[in-house]
Amino acid sequence: MSIAERAQQIVKEFELTPEQLNACVDHFIWATEHGLRHHTDLGMPMIPTYVTSIPTGKEKGTFLAADLGGTNFRVCSVNLHGDSTYALVHNKWPVPRELMSGKCDDFMGWLTDRLEEFLKEHHSEHYSQENCQWGDHLFKMGFTFSFPVDQTGMNRGTLIRWTKGFDIKDAVGKDVCQLFQSAINKRKLPVFVAALVNDTVGTLMSRSYTKAEEGRTLIGCIFGTGTNGAYSEKIKAIPKFNIVAHPEITSKIMVINTEWGSFDNRLKFIPSNRFDQELNLHTPNPGYHMFEKRISGMFLGELLRLCLVELQKDGLLFGAADRIDKTINALETPWSVDSSFPSKIHGDTTTELLGTESIVRQLLGYATTLEQRKAIQAIAKAIGRRGAHLSAVPLAGLILHTHALEKFEGNIDIGADGSVVEFYPHHEEMIREALRWTKIGDQENRITIGLARDGSGVGAALCALVA
Ligand code: GLC
Repeated sequence: MSIAERAQQIVKEFELTPEQLNACVDHFIWATEHGLRHHTDLGMPMIPTYVTSIPTGKEKGTFLAADLGGTNFRVCSVNLHGDSTYALVHNKWPVPRELMSGKCDDFMGWLTDRLEEFLKEHHSEHYSQENCQWGDHLFKMGFTFSFPVDQTGMNRGTLIRWTKGFDIKDAVGKDVCQLFQSAINKRKLPVFVAALVNDTVGTLMSRSYTKAEEGRTLIGCIFGTGTNGAYSEKIKAIPKFNIVAHPEITSKIMVINTEWGSFDNRLKFIPSNRFDQELNLHTPNPGYHMFEKRISGMFLGELLRLCLVELQKDGLLFGAADRIDKTINALETPWSVDSSFPSKIHGDTTTELLGTESIVRQLLGYATTLEQRKAIQAIAKAIGRRGAHLSAVPLAGLILHTHALEKFEGNIDIGADGSVVEFYPHHEEMIREALRWTKIGDQENRITIGLARDGSGVGAALCALVA
């Protein structure tokens, strides 16, 4: 069989028909309602966040935000001007790999060291060099912690499980805000962890603050290393939230962190081929976040790598004679290529696919023929297209569940952040194509999808403010 024919077989394995997609959307609506009723292990978590108001753009003040999302840790200081604008300074550090699966104390200590470094650099006005002490000013901080957490208060929440490659075992089941706060207290830093924020909640908040004029933001979502979304729900439609136990809550709405990465963990409706199954086996959370594993940045590169390994085994590419750089072992190494790999190949429009030639050479260390590159590109596109089409499922699901198209006039706004939505070629276009396949149909043109950069910084600051 030629490599082109073999690639077509693999492409077929990544196909998703409009019928399958619509079955996923129907199931998503069911899972949403089920998750609002029940605490489930395998189902969609639908976590009440205790955030009960959406910004109007008039909020003011300076707040800190600490953001642990996936590969990086960021600390920001955000000055909200009260007119939908803000100023932000931030420092960012990659999380050392060994800490991602080490001890919780070491990890929290490392986060706190970075926070101290940031404060000394950007807020030295509150530090006395003479006494080596911080003054009386207490910073309120929003902690964007983008992992599934069972939230029990605005700044309280126990870690349900790690995702995205983290595996700090002794943190599971503990209150991550308290862990961070006690590490901060040990260092005597003037910081109060006022709010625990999922990055999607931050995205919803920041998009609402910055775009308040342009109408209602329905969903805040992330398509990056992981994927997830948040939206605001009527409290009376959240039967599992015991409102009687919270007399302090008078508002009618609450933001829900859906954790849609865990949609259909039982794989009843979402597609699952050999490569998906192989990939799942080598994650720290097998059987969970199955939807995320078909969509988000952490997994798209790995899926492509697995497909290429198969073509190599079949003797269709990457033979010994094609090896240019023997020091590169990425093809044999799980998780060694991220989504920028399929993304660059997908977006390569040169006739000879020279962009693909160069990235395969650089990342995998092999030379390719044009025929092989065409096959690689066809597979990369199939993986990317399936991911983007599936990304439309929760968006359509929430729009239909909330009846937003009938309830609101004008546009329905979605704030989005993350490397995949920002950089993956044609991502929004492919999402829109799939949205038109759903019951939304032509009304797809009423949906605006806007990048909400800094969701986890500005949004966390806004949560610290309302806390
Ligand atoms: C993972 C996390 C979720 C987060 C998402 C995007 O799915 O479980 O909390 O929002 O990644 O970063």
